[in-house]
Amino acid sequence: MFNLKETKILIVGGSSGVGLATAKLLDQAGASVIIAARDEKKLEHTRQLLGIKARAISFDASEKEQIVVALEKVGSIDHLVIALSGGKGAGSFETLTSANLRTGFAGKFWTHFSLAQESLPHLSASGSITFVSAISARSANPGTVGLSAINSAIEGMVKPLAVELKPRRVNAVSPGVVDTPWWDWLSPDEKRETFNRFAQAAPVGRVGKPEDIVTAVSMGVDLFDCVIPTRNARNGTLFTSRGKLVIKNAQFTEDERPIDESCECYTCRTFSRAYLRHLYIAKEILVLRLLTTHNLFYYAELMKGIRSSILDGDFPNYISRVQSLGGEREN
Ligand SMILES: NC(=O)c1ccc[n+]([C@@H]2O[C@H](COP(=O)([O-])OP(=O)(O)OC[C@H]3O[C@@H](n4cnc5c(N)ncnc54)[C@H](OP(=O)(O)O)[C@@H]3O)[C@@H](O)[C@H]2O)c1
Ligand SMILES: [Zn+2]
Repeated sequence: MFNLKETKILIVGGSSGVGLATAKLLDQAGASVIIAARDEKKLEHTRQLLGIKARAISFDASEKEQIVVALEKVGSIDHLVIALSGGKGAGSFETLTSANLRTGFAGKFWTHFSLAQESLPHLSASGSITFVSAISARSANPGTVGLSAINSAIEGMVKPLAVELKPRRVNAVSPGVVDTPWWDWLSPDEKRETFNRFAQAAPVGRVGKPEDIVTAVSMGVDLFDCVIPTRNARNGTLFTSRGKLVIKNAQFTEDERPIDESCECYTCRTFSRAYLRHLYIAKEILVLRLLTTHNLFYYAELMKGIRSSILDGDFPNYISRVQSLGGEREN
């Protein structure tokens, strides 16, 4: 996870559900969290659950003037998380009224748009904007035509916006079904029945918890569109089934083993650690390609392992095994 100490993060929608779970995690990680929502009482109650550094500010993000005033009060920020809910726009296409859908767009799309736009003068040049869209943007569930349109509109902004705002980062987190107060419009029985239905269709056999989303966010939801495997390889850091290995280290000078004895990549099948280290130290450019081949292969195998562990019902153990490899190891 990034170092969040000394960072100031505004979470709009921070008094409940996904926003609240995000606020708790970031607060624990040492960030200065500011939560925002409309209901002052609920907001203050939530703020007291967080650390002493946490602040709260109440405003209605569907009113642009209120956004402007609130952001002035908040001042400069490092990161903006938009986790507020719209609430309207659900229903079968035949019965969906344009008034309902317009309210849905006003509550979710336009709030996200205005918050992102108005935040720009306050947002650090190395900061980020995270939108929370929804799985409806890409799934095909009856009754979600309107929700899909709203959330697709948000996700559609992300890529061009990321390019316009670089080096600031722009992302959308797209949750599946998460057990939060968002579902309170259903009766308790309907809620239970709905969650059971979604749980049966989900690979992990349950609906999500807000903590699941933030754990994914904290680990980098776009990791696999990322420079980590290739850049680390070029710097001589390799991922292996026993943890990280730094090929430059002198301990590998006469090590005839492959980078990872359980890896079947071309590099591991063909070259020893000693030879790869020699190439690296000699600045032979071929080594960059060989090390990159290994790291990309490792990541592809990791994804295969994740998929099969989900199907086997062994995902939690798989996570623990991989997490225990985080640090550098004596290989
Ligand atoms: N829960 C799910 O299953 C699920 C699935 C996919 C996507 N999502 C998306 O995830 C996001 C968060 O949902 P959630 O489940 O965490 O909902 P939630 O528990 O209902 O929380 C929504 C938060 O947004 C605030 N909010 C709503 N309208 C606002 C406005 N106009 N201005 C300022 N704050 C406002 C609410 O506080 P106040 O009411 O006091 O303003 C509350 O803090 C939503 O965009 C939702 O569509 C949720
Ligand atoms: Zn390999």
